[in-house]
Amino acid sequence: MSGEEAAGTVVSPGGEGEAGVDLLATHIVRAIGVRKIFTMGGEKVHALKGVDFKVERGEYVAIMGPSGSGKSTLFNMIGGLDKPNAGKVFIDEVDIAALNMYELAWLRCHKIGYIFQTFNLIPVATALDNVMLPMLFADMVQAEAQDKAVELLRKVGLGDRVFHKPVQMSGGQQQRVAVARALANNPAIVLADEPTGNLDSTTGRQIIDLLREINESEGVTVITATHDHKMLAVSDRIAWLTDGAIERYVSRDALDIQEGRADAR
Ligand SMILES: Nc1ncnc2c1ncn2[C@@H]1O[C@H](COP(=O)(O)OP(=O)(O)O)[C@@H](O)[C@H]1O
Ligand SMILES: [Mg+2]
Repeated sequence: MSGEEAAGTVVSPGGEGEAGVDLLATHIVRAIGVRKIFTMGGEKVHALKGVDFKVERGEYVAIMGPSGSGKSTLFNMIGGLDKPNAGKVFIDEVDIAALNMYELAWLRCHKIGYIFQTFNLIPVATALDNVMLPMLFADMVQAEAQDKAVELLRKVGLGDRVFHKPVQMSGGQQQRVAVARALANNPAIVLADEPTGNLDSTTGRQIIDLLREINESEGVTVITATHDHKMLAVSDRIAWLTDGAIERYVSRDALDIQEGRADAR
């Protein structure tokens, strides 16, 4: 399927008027036949072995799999942070391999919000400054960026921690700042790589629920890479990744039936 599709749907960055676009318009992310090979010490690691992965606008999808299965590698491909050896990634029907450096930087700044396991906040900057930064990169005027950052920090429950620096906050609070920062430029997609990996179970659950809330209230597509089984209960769809390949998808409906089992984990 992937070869045929890749050959049949060459879409320009504008995406208008090309064959196949109408049929695929609801897919905010399409990865087709994505392969990634890392070479280490002369040895080849096949991190992704031809992954087909599609996400519809507004979905909350979890890429689940054990450590080393390729989740972060797939995450980096979808986020335009790394390039595949073969295959294509389309974001909003734009083939990201066709973008130049500036266009790719624009897409990463405006279309995608990133959340990482280790929060990746700037340690010397306040929560406010951390959240303002992507807006300043996007040329928003200072006062406007500040107002929006305060509003976002309120939204994630940190209205009273605006001037705190990362070291003055708990892990859960730091991840909330990262969630607010990810939303700074009204992205279409929020990508979260192990967002609960450094959090205790209760705090992790709160971040998962916060992401779901944002998904529902803002209509933003959320894609998480995780091995946290708490993510099962809130995701619309799970892609199970094993050894560099998507083994199967499980939908929300099927999950509801299994919920007792999923929650027990
Ligand atoms: N930069 C790299 N260089 C070499 N091997 C890598 C690199 N990044 C990941 N890998 C290997 O690719 C495989 C998938 O890794 P990764 O995507 O990080 O898995 P996960 O996020 O599911 O734990 C692993 O075998 C890992 O060791
Ligand atoms: Mg990982």
